[in-house]
Amino acid sequence: MVLLKQLLLGSLAAGILLYLITHLGHQDRVHLVCPSESSTCPAGGSVLRKLGVTYEQRRNGVATGRLVRQLPHAIIIGVRKGGTRALLEMLSLHPKVVKAAQEVHFFDSNKNYARGFDWYRSRMPLSLNSHVTIEKSPAYFTTEKVPERIFGINASVKLLVIVRDPVIRAVSDYAQVLEGKRRKNKTYPRFESLVVDQATCSVNTKYKAVSTSVYAKHLERWLLFFPIEQVHVVDGDRLISDPLPEIQMVERFLNLTPQISRDNLYFNSTRGFYCLRSERRHVTRCLAGSKGRAHPHVRPAVLEQLRVFFHPYNQKFYQITGRSFTWP
Ligand code: A3P
Repeated sequence: MVLLKQLLLGSLAAGILLYLITHLGHQDRVHLVCPSESSTCPAGGSVLRKLGVTYEQRRNGVATGRLVRQLPHAIIIGVRKGGTRALLEMLSLHPKVVKAAQEVHFFDSNKNYARGFDWYRSRMPLSLNSHVTIEKSPAYFTTEKVPERIFGINASVKLLVIVRDPVIRAVSDYAQVLEGKRRKNKTYPRFESLVVDQATCSVNTKYKAVSTSVYAKHLERWLLFFPIEQVHVVDGDRLISDPLPEIQMVERFLNLTPQISRDNLYFNSTRGFYCLRSERRHVTRCLAGSKGRAHPHVRPAVLEQLRVFFHPYNQKFYQITGRSFTWP
């Protein structure tokens, strides 16, 4: 009896070992058998559904050989608080677009960069060769070493930058940090005292919320590596008020057949923003509450001072991009 038990346990252990050996390194296949998106089924379920791969096909592994993790064809490089999340989510309504689920921060973080190229690719979703993979990491736009690093990996990648009125963007940036401090029960100075240098009464250009909004300076660094034709600038203010024309321009820039229509975007008056309706029309969703948070009141004189400060940089930005924005 004891011998029989030992034999059974032995063959069970051997079976487990054999399973592990044959499955290690085939994580993509593990994703293929997920019946739906869940915490134990990262990204695989939804991506495969989007690609039109049925559960039966996934279970039988029919599509296994055709699915790959591709390096991004396009990267949303910024700008922080410009509407990067809305842009990515809206673009991924297109049946040929797949997105990295989270901000990857490969090129701006030395720690991630040291993990290497394969790590970066492993952060991308499964897709077919004909699909366009997009990732967004807004810190790329302002981090000095990033253009050269991206160029080194893929010199033909398409770059998307979404910008907003630089003053509003700075307030939005501040509002995000303020919320984080409050959550930790920490105090934080008023916006006015951060943007205006108390000693000189001039604009504090060292304050990150200000320097990030000097779009022309950052863009010039990118243009040392990439031609302007490879960069598409999205108007983040228009993405809020009337997103479809902006999204259609991006579809053209990415050489995608136009697929996103008015049916995919509807204004939600409770939320005060456009929300998304997927191709099957019965799935609707809005962005998380952290997108579109209330901004603090700022003294009008300080707003005016910022407008005057940004004006020459804005003109430069219009000149470089060949696009005018309606920033006051
Ligand atoms: P506010 O929170 O200041 O309103 P990012 O994703 O780059 O962090 O940008 C956040 C900003 O996206 C928000 O800034 C919001 O105004 C803007 N946005 C654009 N379209 C949106 C949408 N459909 N739903 C929610 N926020 C949207």
